[in-house]
Amino acid sequence: MEIRMAKLTKIFTSKNKKEVRAVDNVDLTIPSGKLIGLLGPSGCGKSTTLYLIAGLLRQNEGQIFFDDEEVSEMPPEKRGIGLVFQNYALYPHMTVRENILFPLQNLKVEKEEAKQRTFEMAELVGLQEMLDRKPKELSGGQQQRVAIARALVKKPRVLLLDEPLSNLDARLRLQTREEIKRIQRETGITTVFVTHDQEEAMSISDEIVVMKDGVIQQMGEPQDVYDFPANLFVAKFLGNPQINVFDGEIKNKKIFIQDMEVGKSKLPDQPVKIGIRPEGFIVDSEKTSNLRFDVNLVETIGRDTTLIIDMPGEEKSILDKQSFKVIVDASYRVQAGDLVHFTIKPDKMHLFDFEGNLLK
Ligand SMILES: Nc1ncnc2c1ncn2[C@@H]1O[C@H](COP(=O)(O)OP(=O)(O)O)[C@@H](O)[C@H]1O
Ligand SMILES: [Mg+2]
Repeated sequence: MEIRMAKLTKIFTSKNKKEVRAVDNVDLTIPSGKLIGLLGPSGCGKSTTLYLIAGLLRQNEGQIFFDDEEVSEMPPEKRGIGLVFQNYALYPHMTVRENILFPLQNLKVEKEEAKQRTFEMAELVGLQEMLDRKPKELSGGQQQRVAIARALVKKPRVLLLDEPLSNLDARLRLQTREEIKRIQRETGITTVFVTHDQEEAMSISDEIVVMKDGVIQQMGEPQDVYDFPANLFVAKFLGNPQINVFDGEIKNKKIFIQDMEVGKSKLPDQPVKIGIRPEGFIVDSEKTSNLRFDVNLVETIGRDTTLIIDMPGEEKSILDKQSFKVIVDASYRVQAGDLVHFTIKPDKMHLFDFEGNLLK
């Protein structure tokens, strides 16, 4: 089922009477049957968006549609939503079976069918052997899978997950996110997965939606958003190590960082912010390129070497040093203290104005 938000706005009034536009005039369509990652820094309005879809919060303005049906005024229990929160919120005194079954008891589902559906859901999340255990006898990842089974047992039209992996340790986080991906594929349920973790969103989602200050910045397939960020905020939010941002300028169709040419542009002369992905640098072993940096630190991990680099020849105290990160093939033998020349892969460089808008 498709979820469509039209000019959706939610305003909170804080204690000192200040208005916060937690969701600000959002137009967004979540395509049917897809897993969408809603991504952004803490406080950007992700949970508020989710609770508006669920009907737990009421919008100040705008509308929400499930397919062609408007649900803006519909109470949450009528919307057909499965919700999973960060803290598993299982009933500790109940077994896995009872936890999954619980939502069906209020729905007057016939006993045999409820039993059958409970087992199917346990099977779907891979916990059919653990139906008689209590939550505290399960790992965090398993508990979260019970929460997902419980959310799905009512056969909701939409699955909404609010930072479901945040309480798990790194290994379980990886495992459980693959499980969520598999469960979503098997059921085909339209899913919104909220996270502040860009790597998590990129790896799990069919498409990501990047949000900032209640406003959607960009939506697209993860690799497309990474390769073609709509603005400097998105460029910086995706990618680890972060994109390098240099102050530069365009002069006579050439792009400069200080006096060093880094590429060509058809844009008029102007100062620019130049974003270059760490993997966008190619070591120029001929040393003919005039783009060069002092290597400050070298970290080799596996097949990649990360170079921490500084502007050439600048004397700086450690404190105000502005360092940049470059990832090169580990076969390059580079040492701290070297002056290294680079060329830039054109598709790894993005130009922005000083407000952070993309220049094309
Ligand atoms: N019940 C509330 N009362 C007042 N302000 C709120 C309330 N809920 C959220 N906010 C504010 O709305 C903004 C968005 O919050 P939220 O949707 O929880 O962000 P996120 O989930 O992306 O971290 C934040 O500035 C937050 O402080
Ligand atoms: Mg939140």
